[in-house]
Amino acid sequence: MSKYRGYPGAIRALVRSAQVHRDLYIDPEIFALEQEHLFANTWNYAGHDSQLPKAGDYITVDIAGQPLIVIRQKDSSIRVLKNRCAHKGARVVSSCCGNTGQLFRCPYHAWTFRTDGSLLSIPLKSGIEGTSFYETESAKGLPVVKNVMNYRGFIFVKLNDVGESFEDYFGESLSSIDNMVERSPEGALEVAGKPLRFINEANWKMYVENLNDTTHPMITHETSAGTAKAMWEEMPPGTPKPMPVQELVPFVSDYKFFEESGLRVFGNGHSVDGVNYSIHSDYSSIPGYEADMVAKYGAERAREILTMARHNTVYYPNLTIKGAIQTIRVCRPIAVNKTILESWAFRLKGTDDEMLHRTTMYNRFINGPFAMVGQEDAHNYRNIQKGLQATGNDWISLDRNYIPGEEARGRDQTVLGTSDLDCREQYRAWVKYMTMTM
Ligand code: FES
Ligand SMILES: [Fe+2]
Repeated sequence: MSKYRGYPGAIRALVRSAQVHRDLYIDPEIFALEQEHLFANTWNYAGHDSQLPKAGDYITVDIAGQPLIVIRQKDSSIRVLKNRCAHKGARVVSSCCGNTGQLFRCPYHAWTFRTDGSLLSIPLKSGIEGTSFYETESAKGLPVVKNVMNYRGFIFVKLNDVGESFEDYFGESLSSIDNMVERSPEGALEVAGKPLRFINEANWKMYVENLNDTTHPMITHETSAGTAKAMWEEMPPGTPKPMPVQELVPFVSDYKFFEESGLRVFGNGHSVDGVNYSIHSDYSSIPGYEADMVAKYGAERAREILTMARHNTVYYPNLTIKGAIQTIRVCRPIAVNKTILESWAFRLKGTDDEMLHRTTMYNRFINGPFAMVGQEDAHNYRNIQKGLQATGNDWISLDRNYIPGEEARGRDQTVLGTSDLDCREQYRAWVKYMTMTM
C-alpha cells in the first residue's frame, strides 16, 4: 500500500524547519516519486556543449529516470530527444556518445529518425499505410524536450512544463558558472576527456548535502589531508610546496577557517561555500597565466575574476561545480541506495597543459573512484545509508545556526560557512518540487 503517492501532506510532513525524516534516504517509494516529480520539475545538468562539436554529435544521459539524447543539429543548435523508439519503445541509441550522421536507425526493426527526432522511414511501409498509425503520437517520431538551456556551454533540461524559467530557477548562483568560464583567457571551457565515475551505495542526497558541509573535512579527511599536512611540516623550510600538498592540506583547516569563509544560499536549493575565500584561494600562480588574463580583461577585472575562488557551488539537484579548479561533479541517482557520481575535468581555453594538469590531479586526488578524499566522503555516505536502518530516532538534524522564521528572510542570504542553512534550503526546495505536480 502506498504511503506517499498521492499524499502531498505526507511528503510535507517529512521535512521540518531544521530536521528531515529518514524515509527521504531509505524509502524506495520516495525515490520513485523523486524521479517523477523532483527531477522532472527542476532544471538538471545534461552535458557540456564542447562534447558536441559537430552536427550529428550526441551524448546520452538519464534524467528523472528517463533516457535522453542530447544532439547537435545542422544549424548548430542543440536538441534534446527522448531516447525511445516511436515503434515499440526501444532506445534508438545505447552508447554514451558518438556521431549519428544524418539519422538515427533503431536497432530493432530499423525505423529511422532525423536528428530533430522526426520520423524518416519505416521498412515495409505497405503494412502500415491505411492504418490509423499516422494519426498517433508515434508518427511524430521521438518526443522532443522543450525546456533546454545552453548557459555558457552548460546544457540544462527540465522535463516537465512547470516551475520557473531557467534564470529564475538558478538566480544569482549562475555567477559561479560565469566565474569558471571567465577564468579562461578566451572565455570558454572544453571538457577534457571522459569523466571519472563510480557507483556509490548510498542515496544521492547525502552527496549533495555534503558538498557544503564544512564541519566534516577536518574530521573525515584527517587520514588523507592530515597525513599530507604532517609530511609537509617535516620538509625543510623554503621547500617549494608541491601541487598535491597545495590541493590536499586546506581540507584540514580549522572550524574558524570554514566559519569565516562564508556560505551563500540562492533559493531553490542552490548554494556556494567559500564566499570570502576558500580552500582553493592560495594555489600558486602559473607563469604567464595572469598576464594573459590581464591582456583579455584588463587588470581590475582579471583580479576580480581570479580572487573569486569559491569552493563548491551546488546547482540543485544534480550538478556541483568547483570553478577555481575547473572540475564539476554530476550526481546520477539510480536507486534509493545507489548513485553514480561523475567527475569531469575542464580545460580553460587559452591556457597550457600545466593548468589542466592541476585540474586532473585534483580530480584524481579528491573526486574520483580512487581519490583519497572523495572515498573518505563516500565511506560516510554508505555508513549513513546503513545507520539510518536503525529505528528509535526517525530524524536527521540540520539544526546548526537555525533561526526561527529564516524561511521568510529572502532567497539570497550569506551566513557563517558552517551553517546548515544550505541543507535546510535544499529540503525546502525538495518539498516544493516534489509536491508541485502531485
Ligand atoms: S522498436 Fe524501434 S524499430 Fe521497432
Ligand atoms: Fe569531504
